[in-house]
Amino acid sequence: MLQELEEYWESFQEEIQKASTLSDWNYLKGKYVGKKSRWGEFLAKLKELSPEEKRVWGKKINQLKKEMEELLEERYQELLSTEEKSEVDITLPGKKGWSGSFHPVLLTRDWILTIFQSLGFRVEEGPEIETEFYNFEALNIPPDHPARDDQDSFYLAPGYLLRTHTSPAQIRVMEKLKPPFKVVVPGKCYRRDAFDATHSPMFHQIEGLVVARDISMGDLKGTLETFVRRFFGEERKIRFRPGYFPFTEPSAEVDVSCGVCGGKGCRSCGYSGWLEILGAGLVHPQVFTHAGYDSQDVRGFAFGLGVERITMLKFGIKDIRWFWENDVQFLEQFNIF
Ligand code: PHE
Repeated sequence: MLQELEEYWESFQEEIQKASTLSDWNYLKGKYVGKKSRWGEFLAKLKELSPEEKRVWGKKINQLKKEMEELLEERYQELLSTEEKSEVDITLPGKKGWSGSFHPVLLTRDWILTIFQSLGFRVEEGPEIETEFYNFEALNIPPDHPARDDQDSFYLAPGYLLRTHTSPAQIRVMEKLKPPFKVVVPGKCYRRDAFDATHSPMFHQIEGLVVARDISMGDLKGTLETFVRRFFGEERKIRFRPGYFPFTEPSAEVDVSCGVCGGKGCRSCGYSGWLEILGAGLVHPQVFTHAGYDSQDVRGFAFGLGVERITMLKFGIKDIRWFWENDVQFLEQFNIF
């Protein structure tokens, strides 16, 4: 009995000195005075002893237990004050919970869609896996057309590919809806391009398509001007340059005046005063025919803009790869819309 008690006491003293955190302390409390302690066991052993011995040992046991409790309390106070000193610096600012933010490309996409929705456009979608018919043929790009070289594609199986632009959605929307209508179609596109400062094999576009009986280049200009002013600012201007797309005629490349120099010419705009933002034009009659429309009966305009490019212009981002590097510190600064 004596030996066991002594060992118990010694191991307690050793362990309580070693305890360096409050959680060590909690564990020892359970082990030496809590449910896991051996006091019950020692007291039970008293039954085997004579009344005289019982009295002596009983007293001894109670005394040791009390001392343990006192030592535990002392150690608790010590640990508490060191943990407080080392871990709580009341001069530090409070900890804020971390909350996620939307990706800048998606913020821009949604802002653009909102502007077009306010002009009466509805949002439609198309598949990312397309057939050659929708991605090329129906858009007046036959198999041997050189325009296919500009859009080197990821083929999945003969006849199927990842869409290289959102324009195939023009055909799908025309098949689904009856004119007149105004739609915008956002989505991911894929091209076998090098991943460099201005190209990414995956990028986002927004396609616009308006079809009615009587649509002119003036409608296209007015719509894009309204969009540019709302998105970039009232003071910004647009400029149409002749362009070429097999599925629009006439076609145009559309520029916005540089926001840095106001159109005078500076480093940001390559000293031209203008920045290219999208491609557009009047829907080619052949495209109407492919979609099953009577090309004598309807007219339309279409445009396609690159969401990454517009985001880069809006925020002055210099490298498209930064969008996809998952650097949270970079990504979360754009939550301003
Ligand atoms: N699809 C074209 C591209 O990806 C953009 C475009 C869309 C041009 C609609 C004209 C009309 O380059």
